[in-house]
Amino acid sequence: MRFIRSERLIARMQDERSPFQKLADLLCDIVPANHDRTAPINMTIGEPGHAYPAFIPDVIIDNKADFGRYPPMRGTDDFRKAVEDWLNGRYDLGGLPLGEKNILPLNGTREGLFHAVIGARDWARFHFGKRLVNPAVLLPNPFYHTYIGAARAIEAEPVFLNGTPETGFLPDLDALAEDTKLLDRTVAFFYASPANPQGNAADIATWKKLIALARKHDFLILADECYSELYRETPPAGILEACEGDFSHVVTFHSLSKRSNLPGLRCGFAAGDPAFLTEWTKYRNLVAPQVSMPLQAAGAAAYRDEEHVIENRRLYNEKFDCVDRILGKDLPHDIPLAGFFLWLDVSAFGDDVSVTEKLWREVGVRVIPGSYLARPDISETNPGDGFLRIALVGTLEETKDAMTRLRACLIG
Ligand SMILES: Cc1ncc(COP(=O)(O)O)c(C=O)c1O
Repeated sequence: MRFIRSERLIARMQDERSPFQKLADLLCDIVPANHDRTAPINMTIGEPGHAYPAFIPDVIIDNKADFGRYPPMRGTDDFRKAVEDWLNGRYDLGGLPLGEKNILPLNGTREGLFHAVIGARDWARFHFGKRLVNPAVLLPNPFYHTYIGAARAIEAEPVFLNGTPETGFLPDLDALAEDTKLLDRTVAFFYASPANPQGNAADIATWKKLIALARKHDFLILADECYSELYRETPPAGILEACEGDFSHVVTFHSLSKRSNLPGLRCGFAAGDPAFLTEWTKYRNLVAPQVSMPLQAAGAAAYRDEEHVIENRRLYNEKFDCVDRILGKDLPHDIPLAGFFLWLDVSAFGDDVSVTEKLWREVGVRVIPGSYLARPDISETNPGDGFLRIALVGTLEETKDAMTRLRACLIG
């Protein structure tokens, strides 16, 4: 199995525009038909549109005196306790006390994922004496673009692992296990579960396989689980459950942005390997953003409440049911296990870029071509080709309207 890695690909990446910039360039000269009568619908950005819990502003106001203090990087005891209780309630961790060394608040997971790679490089080098000539960072393909920024920051080679229908939309760990040379120079593996955009999630056996690889080759798993609570029916397994009490080589990232519709709060956490987190905190104390204490108080309150999360899931499920009904059998589609993206195979109607243009031009529905979210592999095949990413973050009415227009545009 050959993964995507070559100087040519790296060079190509470096002068690349973000998917949103590419989309803006693609659609800038197109005016949607009937735009004066029918409002365009934007389904590109993964910004939750549901309400955040009503108690959040009150908690912030109750704690406003703490805006006058620098927040501790390690977080408040109350925030860590709320997260510990939440983790133990959500996952089967055997009531394990996680304690101060296992949990760290983050100013949103994006900064955490970025800074973690710098920590992982130092941890691999100093903790395991790993020689880092031509270090590699593994990431899924399609991928969340911060991963690539992080790989670039440590001048590591980003190695893309395709998530396709054949691999269950997750990286193929069996194929990866054969590439021991690659694994030996890997410092970190971004593993998104549930995956953005496809919504598939690792089971316990897959997590265990990944952990075994990490321990054998001494790289750090950066498990991005920020969509873990937006599941349809069955809660996806978490990587901490697969650790059986030993968190070495594992850090998981969770966020309130999706779970609680609080992307503006900038509050999430990392949890896992205490040796890594202790060293990483020293690094973070130099350069990383803390989470302000009134916002940690709000975050703790959000983690102590599940009612709003249940309602959040209900709203997403209602929209996915609506998608299912409107697209029906004529437009084959998979309802994702988790998350709020529809990863729609439109290859029967043309390539994803021209279908994106057509949808915008003819019915004013704005989506992202799948190929913009992924990289061509070694055989020049892009695993996003033929797919659209459609964010179901608007209202039910908007979703219904968008799906009706999409259906009319593609199949009449
Ligand atoms: C896969 C994935 N990881 C991480 C993030 C970062 O989220 P935040 O920084 O709001 O916690 C996002 C945001 O869209 C995402 O899609």
